[in-house]
Amino acid sequence: MAKIKDIKFNNFRNFTDYNISFDKKLNIFFGKNGCGKTNILEGISLNAKGRGIRNSSLCNLIKKKESNFFIKNNLRINNNDFDIKIYAENINNKYKKIIKINDDFSKESINFLNQSISYIVFLPEMERLFQASPSYRRNFLDRLIYSSKKNYNRLINKYKKLLIERIKILQKTSFDNEWLNQVENEISFLGMEIYQSRYSELNSINKIINILNQDHKFKFKLKLQMKDDFFSNDLTSEKYLSVLQDTRNYDKNYGGTKIGPHRSDIIGIIDNDFDASLLSTGQQKTIVLMILLAQCYYLTNYKKINPILLFDEIGSHLDLNNRQILLDMINRFEIQFFLTGTEKNIFSFISTNAQFYNITDI
Ligand SMILES: Nc1ncnc2c1ncn2[C@@H]1O[C@H](COP(=O)(O)OP(=O)(O)O)[C@@H](O)[C@H]1O
Ligand SMILES: [Mg+2]
Repeated sequence: MAKIKDIKFNNFRNFTDYNISFDKKLNIFFGKNGCGKTNILEGISLNAKGRGIRNSSLCNLIKKKESNFFIKNNLRINNNDFDIKIYAENINNKYKKIIKINDDFSKESINFLNQSISYIVFLPEMERLFQASPSYRRNFLDRLIYSSKKNYNRLINKYKKLLIERIKILQKTSFDNEWLNQVENEISFLGMEIYQSRYSELNSINKIINILNQDHKFKFKLKLQMKDDFFSNDLTSEKYLSVLQDTRNYDKNYGGTKIGPHRSDIIGIIDNDFDASLLSTGQQKTIVLMILLAQCYYLTNYKKINPILLFDEIGSHLDLNNRQILLDMINRFEIQFFLTGTEKNIFSFISTNAQFYNITDI
């Protein structure tokens, strides 16, 4: 699996020309607000498919008043070194992200890179995971699934496109019934696959948290559950399809599809008693760290995937519980970490050798 050896930014965000070499284990960026810590994590995250941890439009990545950004990194993947270049291409005023691996951008090379690199991300907004919108929670879960199932994003995107297409067909004055049947048929298959992926991801996190609890004695008992008016364990794609057909009229007027995984929510039940949304932000951070720890355990032990951890503003709310989980992640896994915080001394509890970077030095 991949480790990042170094990165070089040109005209990327606030960096004009900036080089940085990384430790293969633990890298900690500190510095005052606005110095570029999140930008560095974002730059690293662009090695994966998509628009990075901020899901930002490409034109915002380009340093103001400049015409393009350029990122070059050296990755070590299974004992081989690869040179990765990332920049934007402007075609008819639309930016497209270009990635080259050893100057090659063939489909095979891009696939190889995507298969070789998995990120586990913590963002400060996740401290409100259980107070955020259901779609935020779905995305959170989907990103975890994507870390081991690389075709999952394509599945989600295809499913979303089909939902839009179905409503467009329904709202036409006349339409081809055969076409609608085909779209609904596909929706029912993809929808089932998304339900099942999420269901098994939640189960595996719950199960692993129980295993880890033997070492940890976590502060909370956590049970993650899918909340969905339509899904049940005995749902089949045939039943799914027939409900889609029955709700055509409703969906046409409502302008959206009433049933399916795009309507699910994920809830956390704490100590078999209350909803995780009642926890404080620091306590929700504990829950999120428990989930991310479980996901790392799952990836390394069951999937032989060594993810790269990008933990932004991890320094806040680091009480004893949260420190204990973070330390366990650092000690337990052979993975590369990138952590950020405003002050160096927030991280003084970490005894492992760490490379510290004072970003105010730029
Ligand atoms: N396209 C851009 N061009 C120039 N500066 C940018 C661009 N995008 C963001 N910035 C600057 O980057 C800084 C934010 O960096 P960020 O990594 O979020 O800071 P932090 O260290 O607090 O995480 C801000 O000062 C912002 O003005
Ligand atoms: Mg930041």
